Amino acid sequence: MLEIERKDFFDVLGSRRSIRYFKPWKPVEPEKLEAILQAARIASHMGNANSVQAIVFSDKETKEKLKPVVSTFNVAIIDMAPVILIWFLDRDTWYKEGVAEHLAELYKAGAINPSHGWSTDFILNAAKPRLTSFPTEAVDFMLSCESGMAMAQAQLTAVALGLGVCSFAGVGPKIAEIFGLPDHCRFVWGMAIGYPAEDPLTGGQRKRKPFEKIYFKDRYGNAMSSDPKVVNMLMELNMIQPEAKLTPQRLEEINAVSRMVGLPERTD
Ligand SMILES: Cc1cc2nc3c(=O)[nH]c(=O)nc-3n(C[C@H](O)[C@H](O)[C@H](O)COP(=O)(O)O)c2cc1C
Repeated sequence: MLEIERKDFFDVLGSRRSIRYFKPWKPVEPEKLEAILQAARIASHMGNANSVQAIVFSDKETKEKLKPVVSTFNVAIIDMAPVILIWFLDRDTWYKEGVAEHLAELYKAGAINPSHGWSTDFILNAAKPRLTSFPTEAVDFMLSCESGMAMAQAQLTAVALGLGVCSFAGVGPKIAEIFGLPDHCRFVWGMAIGYPAEDPLTGGQRKRKPFEKIYFKDRYGNAMSSDPKVVNMLMELNMIQPEAKLTPQRLEEINAVSRMVGLPERTD
C-alpha cells in the first residue's frame, strides 16, 4: 500500500491553489484517486441524501469529446491533467429514494433525536411531504450546494496528497449527453487532478475580498472586523499565506512550464 505522509490541515488549506499546469506524464496513483473520492463521499450531505456522484476518466478520446463543450481556457487544463472528474447530482436521491429514508437512517443511528423534535412519525408525516414538495429548481440548488461541499473535501484531500486540482465549468446538457447522464442527473462541475507543474508557493495565495467586506455583525451592512492577532496566528499556521503577485519568479515559472508543455508564453 502507498505510504501517505500526514500533512497539517491548516497548511493544506492555505496551500491550495487552482492548479492550471500539470505534469501530464505523471499519473495519479489509484490509492490517491480513491482517497479523493472517499473524501467527497464522507462530506456532509443535505438530509444525508448523498446526491453527489462522479464519473472518473483519463483517456484521450473522452478528453477530445469534452474539450468542445468547455470554455477555451479550460482546454489546456484538460489536456494536461491525468485524471478528470465529472461531478453531477442525482435528483432521484431526493424524490425517488426519498430524503425521508435518509433521515430515517439518521434517526435509527442516533444522529438525529427526539431531543431536537425528531421522531419516525415526524419524518414520515411532516418532513417527507414538505421536503418532497420542493420544486426541482429548489432541490437542484440545494443539492448543488452539497456537491460543492463534497468537491471541497475532494480538493483538499488531493492537496494533502501532494496533488493539484482545478475545478472547471462546462455546458451542462452537452456534458450530460457525452457521459450518458439520465434526466434526473445534472452536471455540476468538472475537476482536473494531477501532479502540479507549478509551485503553489511561487504563485501565492489568490487575493480575496477583505474580511470586513463579506462578514457582518448582527445585521447586513454592519462590517465585522478581523483581529490582527488572529491573522498573525493563521499566518504562522500557514493558513493565510502571502498574496499572489506576478513576480519575476512567477513569470519565469509560467513561461518555463508553458514551454515545457508547448503552450504560448506570457509576454505582457
Ligand atoms: C465551482 C468552481 C468553478 C471554477 N471554474 C473554473 C474554470 O472553469 N476554469 C478555471 O480556470 N478556473 C475555475 N475555477 C477556479 C477559480 O477561478 C479559482 O478559484 C480562482 O482563480 C481563485 O484561485 P484559487 O482557487 O487558486 O484560490 C473554478 C472554481 C470553482 C470553485
